[in-house]
Amino acid sequence: MGPPGAGKGTQAEFIAAHLAVPKISTGDIFRANLAQGTPLGLEAKRYMESGQLVPDEVTINMVRERLAEPDAAHGFLLDGFPRTLPQATALDKMLADMGVALDVVLELVVDNDEVIRRLSGRRTCRNCGKIWHEAFDPPSRPGICDRCGGELYQRDDDKPETVAERLRVYARDTAPLIDFYGAQGKLVGIDATGPVEDVTERAKDALRPYGG
Ligand code: AP5
Repeated sequence: MGPPGAGKGTQAEFIAAHLAVPKISTGDIFRANLAQGTPLGLEAKRYMESGQLVPDEVTINMVRERLAEPDAAHGFLLDGFPRTLPQATALDKMLADMGVALDVVLELVVDNDEVIRRLSGRRTCRNCGKIWHEAFDPPSRPGICDRCGGELYQRDDDKPETVAERLRVYARDTAPLIDFYGAQGKLVGIDATGPVEDVTERAKDALRPYGG
């Protein structure tokens, strides 16, 4: 968990590799559907472009299908889901049906000014999805992904007015989950400021008691 631009996608990649589990990002799934022009992508587009959440029913059904895939049978890392109380209660039900439990919810704590700095310089690889930042984590050749040579692009929802709306939606709909998981004793918050590698080390330390 964490506000837009907190570094969830960046850290999820390292942590999922460290734990050898798939990273399941609802934002990535919506963007992949959008790129392919599927009905799901077209439906998600109008919400994403305006900084709103895709309706719960659509999102929950998509996650249920994804968790049924074989690679999720031995654990997974969710990035960007759940984001509302109905999604959180639906996740509890899905996990109960699968006979597994949520181990831990990691919250990346970072303030709004830092989020705005991060999102304004974010660049994402169109080919492999690797996340870069123009100033904080630049590729060696501007506009080209070091990992795969793909083209880097700026996300449509990183425009300043859309970022402001995403932050409002986070505070209204998603921040209440901090109390929800806190009350269950599942929430661990870490300072997500400073270099990416330092945040990764803090995340690994926080996950160690849970077998991470
Ligand atoms: P989603 O893709 O999940 O967006 P988000 O939550 O707004 O988060 P971001 O991807 O913007 O940021 P992040 O925290 O992953 O940061 P990142 O690692 O990229 O969702 C997009 C949209 O899809 C939503 O608005 C909604 O419409 C829809 N959606 C998705 N899930 C949904 C759900 N469950 N329900 C309903 N709708 C849903 O880092 C940001 C930048 O900072 C990068 O450039 C990175 O290089 C840089 N950076 C990272 N860490 C550091 C650091 N330590 N220091 C300096 N720079 C850093």
